[in-house]
Amino acid sequence: MNSDMQMKNDAGRQRKVFIKTYGCQMNVYDSQRMADALGERNFVPVDSPESADLVILNTCHIREKAAEKVFSEVGRLRKLKNSREKDGQGLYIAVAGCVAQAEGAEIVRRAPVVDMVFGPQTYHRLPDMIDQADGQRAKGQMVQVLETDFPAEDKFDYLPRNRSSKGPAAFLTVQEGCDKFCTFCVVPYTRGAEVSRPVAAIIEEAERLVAGGVCEITLLGQNVNAYHGLSENGETASLAKLVQRLSMIGGLKRVRYVTSHPRDMSDDLIAVHGELDVLMPYLHLPVQSGSDRILQVMNRQHTAETYLSVIERMRQARPDIALSGDFIVGFPGETDEDFEDTMSLVRAVGYAQAYSFKYSPRPGTPASVLKDQVDEDVKTKRLAALQALLNEQQMAFNRTSVGKRMQVLMERPGRVSGQLVGRSPYNQAVHVDFAAHDSAEKLDENGAHSYSDYMGRLLDVEIISAGPNSLQGRPVL
Ligand code: SAH
Ligand code: SF4
Ligand code: F3S
Repeated sequence: MNSDMQMKNDAGRQRKVFIKTYGCQMNVYDSQRMADALGERNFVPVDSPESADLVILNTCHIREKAAEKVFSEVGRLRKLKNSREKDGQGLYIAVAGCVAQAEGAEIVRRAPVVDMVFGPQTYHRLPDMIDQADGQRAKGQMVQVLETDFPAEDKFDYLPRNRSSKGPAAFLTVQEGCDKFCTFCVVPYTRGAEVSRPVAAIIEEAERLVAGGVCEITLLGQNVNAYHGLSENGETASLAKLVQRLSMIGGLKRVRYVTSHPRDMSDDLIAVHGELDVLMPYLHLPVQSGSDRILQVMNRQHTAETYLSVIERMRQARPDIALSGDFIVGFPGETDEDFEDTMSLVRAVGYAQAYSFKYSPRPGTPASVLKDQVDEDVKTKRLAALQALLNEQQMAFNRTSVGKRMQVLMERPGRVSGQLVGRSPYNQAVHVDFAAHDSAEKLDENGAHSYSDYMGRLLDVEIISAGPNSLQGRPVL
């Protein structure tokens, strides 16, 4: 077959893409948008690499194990690619996301089996990248596509307007990148400068999602509460304004946003938590450390006290707010006393949920070259103590839900028949058992044929028991 024919062949035939997602919710969103963009070249998403023509690893660079996982996954895919080639078929292996952005050249050097490497700001160019790869393959050349520049154009202006989403809850990126430069963090280097999308584009995407059956939207941004997008009247809109605008979309029942920085927790945003029912009573507000000395070396631009005052004001506006946070233990120079300050802060707040990590030196970040790095075994001990406290708090919070009625958005089938799993307003996973209770007749009365008719809907649920990571409830039909 000559090369032109091969290209036509590839362009015309339906091909399959498998995307494996690591890291944060923004990567989950990006993976969906990559699939949308690839639709323009006739790719359909599949659930396993075995049947795929293109495998994309959408990577995370936040801690080192993440990058290592990628290299071992590439190793496994190499075997798959080899066996395909024996059968005369091809497989493209692509590395996208934050590892691609940070270590693109290193990936090309270390893993020549990878055909395509591209960073988070280039996904709209995927159709062109596919054409480029097809062209190289048709000519019998080694396929090598590398796109790690920060393009001048905004990818959101070029991504397809149609977007896919699975289930009733969806992510929507409203802000991307970060200008804060915390000394431990790679995000400003991998995602680039802070950019907010215009309000109109966000509303349009939200309306499309709602028209497709979505009733909960989580607004995403590395610094989502620093959002300052161009509004429809030419002024700059804050996140509070954006949420107000979204609350006017009929059919949109719930709004969440993540991740926020304590410095950008403005009065108007705190106030809307007390005013808008669509805004869920849950706030993820990373603090990283409770020691002012460490916070300063981290360049967090806030103190423990200013963080606690945000929490206090938040609780005044919305007394039932569930709080979540991120913590780093063993940042360079952290003493036992600094760590105790973190424990005290956690005790003072009382978290409903939390994420905690050992400090991981990231290449190119200022903290990675600080002299007084903390020993691994000290980090391990501190993390265990912190997690024990956070788990205790999470369990205590979950226990307060028992006996209460709350609205749960049913998102997926449970492990056993007759069960659906959803989210409470406070972001807890709730297992709702339809079979175990006298609900069959009630289902009939409500015009539902089966419990699965409740999938994708908000339902009143009475919480009957609590575990460390989830709640169990019975439907109030
Ligand atoms: N934009 C958010 C979170 C970004 S990354 C914020 O400003 O807080 C998510 C979390 O990963 C961070 O909150 C931090 O707790 C953790 N993290 C980031 N860099 C890290 C590093 N080098 N080592 C360990 N944890 C890190
Ligand atoms: Fe990273 Fe700090 Fe920016 Fe969050 S605010 S993304 S931790 S640099
Ligand atoms: Fe990871 Fe990049 Fe998100 S480093 S946490 S995937 S922004």
